Amino acid sequence: MTSSTPASSDSLVIVTGASSGIGLELALCAARDGHPVLLVARGREALEIAADAAIDAGSPAAHVVSADLSTSAGIDAVVTEVDKLGMPVAALINNAGFGGWGPFGEQDLDRATRMVDLNCRAVVELSHRLLDRVREARGGVLTVASTAAFQPGPGMAVYHASKAFALYFSLALRDELKAEGVHVTALCPGPVPTEFGANAGVHAELEASLRVKLSSQPADKVARMAWRGLRKNQAVVMPGTVNRLGALGAKLAPLTTSTRLARTALGAMAASSKA
Ligand SMILES: NC(=O)c1ccc[n+]([C@@H]2O[C@H](COP(=O)([O-])OP(=O)(O)OC[C@H]3O[C@@H](n4cnc5c(N)ncnc54)[C@H](OP(=O)(O)O)[C@@H]3O)[C@@H](O)[C@H]2O)c1
Repeated sequence: MTSSTPASSDSLVIVTGASSGIGLELALCAARDGHPVLLVARGREALEIAADAAIDAGSPAAHVVSADLSTSAGIDAVVTEVDKLGMPVAALINNAGFGGWGPFGEQDLDRATRMVDLNCRAVVELSHRLLDRVREARGGVLTVASTAAFQPGPGMAVYHASKAFALYFSLALRDELKAEGVHVTALCPGPVPTEFGANAGVHAELEASLRVKLSSQPADKVARMAWRGLRKNQAVVMPGTVNRLGALGAKLAPLTTSTRLARTALGAMAASSKA
């Protein structure tokens, strides 16, 4: 992906989780640069609204696929649509994801494994199955990880681990594809006010805490920084100074220490006191 994205009207940008939050804003960034977009999420109605917004923002064509990407059938539906469109892919944006707050032993197992399927398996499968089309456009792959990727998260154990997976996968892929001119970027946002918190069941005290307030960044700003970062082939985009300092601290501390700090920050004392 070159920084000027030539021939943008001939190359598709695929955004998973494009119907709300960060994904919707990323789709609008691609649309403003003149790309046709393929928007993916489960809810069709919200996708149609997002597609209209993409056209209004300047996209020549906005396609939608309503699919559950935690399933093989959902991933097949996206690949089939991309094959039908037959375009090179300027960017694959692996954004769809969700979290779950609470003690691991009390989590619904089906939900926890679906989280791994969406946050990890879908990223791997889509990146692999669409890689040749990305290569064709000398495009890029943007994967949305999180600041959660930098330390284990008691109280959000599966989510943190899934985002560490996404970050490590993205960094390794970037190294492998560098010589081919394919850009690969990981986005690691801290808190962003979207539907994520409510869907994850994050408790109100945590959402209203000073730490979250100080590190929170709006979705449109996060998306603009990520889109610019992908075009510049930045390895990691982490919006917000507080978030960057937190990730640096987590990297410098022994893993057991950063785990304890995350436990306090997440307010998960009750969660782990039973252990
Ligand atoms: N918000 C934060 O504080 C924060 C911080 C760091 C990282 N992130 C990451 O940012 C990404 C986007 O989250 P967001 O904050 O923008 O949350 P959001 O507003 O809840 O958006 C999630 C998007 O993913 C879609 N989605 C959810 N499950 C899906 C499935 N099984 N198959 C296909 N699409 C699915 C949703 O649409 P449907 O429900 O209709 O499918 C929606 O479009 C996630 O990977 C999240 O982990 C968020």
